Amino acid sequence: MQFNNLLVQKENNLAILTINRPAALNALNADTLHELGQAIQMLTEDQEVKVIILTGAGEKAFVAGADIAFMQQLDPIAARQFALTGQMVFNQIESCPKPVIAAINGYALGGGCELAMACDIRIASEKAKFGQPEVNLGVIPGFAGTQRLARLVGKGKAKELIFTGDMIDAQEAYQIGLINQIVPHDQLMDQTKKMGLKIASKALVAVQLAKRAINEGLEMPLEQANYHEANYFGLCFATNDQKEGMAAFLAKRPPQFQGK
Ligand code: CAA
Repeated sequence: MQFNNLLVQKENNLAILTINRPAALNALNADTLHELGQAIQMLTEDQEVKVIILTGAGEKAFVAGADIAFMQQLDPIAARQFALTGQMVFNQIESCPKPVIAAINGYALGGGCELAMACDIRIASEKAKFGQPEVNLGVIPGFAGTQRLARLVGKGKAKELIFTGDMIDAQEAYQIGLINQIVPHDQLMDQTKKMGLKIASKALVAVQLAKRAINEGLEMPLEQANYHEANYFGLCFATNDQKEGMAAFLAKRPPQFQGK
């Protein structure tokens, strides 16, 4: 599949999906969002791909937000639809059965911070900067930033960031729990691929069910979520990889997982 605003590369069991509009700091317009949705669908169905890495083209930005030039003339109905489209694509990333890791190479602002938050794991260059600067434009976050930021860093810090529009550096983003790791800028892709390959080497169904258990469970009361986890735990015992993983441990040899 050919894309105008994205690059897709595959290596080993990883897919690297790059938002490729560097002249606009990879800002998200409706076309880019639609392509992102199509690419995620394509990679979800691709049996060779076990982990997806999402990054931005160029040295400066992961994604500097929704495209302001595109949004400027929208009427309220079209703006609402644009927000819903972004939310739908980001939900698709969040619920994609395969782990999605954001490799944050620079600015992750507005829709860019929201995109990173829809990923499972966030690894950032030491040069990365984060923020929800929408109030500077007379709007609020529209791609679920009010919700995902509050869930990730807590209500108080989310309100501070969203009300002030302040940008924070990678160090502060790490301290508040917005990102998982900070790495030297020139090691970002290597370190992200290293984590991707580590995850790809594990029992595939177990990783996928763990993602579901965490995401779905967080929307449930604890007792129900724990029961849900037990159901997925039981389901793992229907896989060859559970038999192999436990047999390999007891035989003191590395497991040979088949992904089923
Ligand atoms: N939309 C459209 N174009 C953008 C953009 C955006 N979000 N961010 C940057 N660009 C464009 C600039 O207009 C500029 O284009 P030209 O070269 O044609 O003038 C180019 O990218 C480079 O940007 P700058 O010259 O501004 O680069 P800089 O290094 O001086 O500043 C920056 C970098 C601080 C990230 C600055 O570009 C900036 O503040 N960008 C906007 C960030 C923002 O407000 N994001 C939130 C958008 S709203 C949103 O996302 C809503 C939502 O939740 C759905």
